Amino acid sequence: MNDTRIGLLGLGAYVPEKVMTNAEWSRLVDTSDEWIVARTGIHRRRFAAEDENTADLAVHAARAALDDAGLEPEALDEIIVATDTPEVYSPDTASFVQHRLGARQIPTYDLGGSGCAGFLQAVDVARSRAREADRHILVIGVEVLSRLMNLTDRSTCVLFGDGAGAVIVGPGDHAAEILASVTGTDGSRTDILGIEAGGTRTPFSAENSPDGRMDVTMHGQTVFKQAVRHMSAASLKALERAGLSRDDVDLVVPHQANLRIINAVGKALRVPLEKVFVNVQEYGNTGSASVPLALAQAHEQGRIQDGDVVLLTSFGAGFHWGSVVVRF
Ligand code: UT7
Repeated sequence: MNDTRIGLLGLGAYVPEKVMTNAEWSRLVDTSDEWIVARTGIHRRRFAAEDENTADLAVHAARAALDDAGLEPEALDEIIVATDTPEVYSPDTASFVQHRLGARQIPTYDLGGSGCAGFLQAVDVARSRAREADRHILVIGVEVLSRLMNLTDRSTCVLFGDGAGAVIVGPGDHAAEILASVTGTDGSRTDILGIEAGGTRTPFSAENSPDGRMDVTMHGQTVFKQAVRHMSAASLKALERAGLSRDDVDLVVPHQANLRIINAVGKALRVPLEKVFVNVQEYGNTGSASVPLALAQAHEQGRIQDGDVVLLTSFGAGFHWGSVVVRF
């Protein structure tokens, strides 16, 4: 291992144009704008157009991150795509992205099944692989949840949206340095959040997926509590590893699942809410895309200045969690 500074060299994001409002949901399922806003903070979300698939969103975000880094696709040494809604079942979405970007025949792989924690898990892996051999690694978080989720289950459908975010992880004196990362999994909690049908235990059938869509099994309140607990604990551990305290944090960019969860994490970390970035009202829960999308927007909006310490944190089905500390 060498001592080269490894960090984020560029950020990018993409959201589809189509806006789906709470009012539109209330015409399709038994819900209301009041319920959705009060329980989640979500006002609207974006849905991919009929001719847009996962790789399309991923490539848009990847090009934006490459532009931001001032790099050409040929500079990439590896691509990781975190997604639970891949372009096709096999091969991985990252293969499509490699070809569409015009990258070299570099290794690519997907990190799937980790729900919304996938992106930070991928950053954690990319950081050590970049450090090992000065690689430039494109890490993308992307979801087209609208295409696959059950549109009649009001307890889950109103929560999600589509989007993509990307970062380039690599060596460089001007990189936003990754100071520490902490990831973890509690495999005894596979029952609280997941998608049952489609695996070997319960293959798709006419009964469990009449229209080819996925049912999300979710124990909302348990997920809520686990999310707050693990995101705050992992964040404090990551700050400790970085030799920093909560007072050093300039901005927290948490997974955008629910405004109440975001506020509870801010409270548990004892970080003032004005230092917590929120865009869940605009995009809902975009799964693996949530953290890189929020990070790119926070940067674009001038919420992150040179020298700022930014804490990224997420959770997802598994039950997985991750926190990453970055100095811009
Ligand atoms: O990547 C996925 C991550 N998942 C999460 O982050 C979910 C974490 N959990 C949550 O965000 C919250 O638990 C929810 C937003 C999902 C639900 O909020 P809650 O305050 O925990 O509500 P609840 O599940 O206790 O449901 C309260 C009521 C129920 O009715 P009853 O039993 O009290 O009559 C639900 O049937 O709200 C009902 N309900 C709805 N009502 C209107 C559930 N979904 C809806 C809806 N519209 N869309």
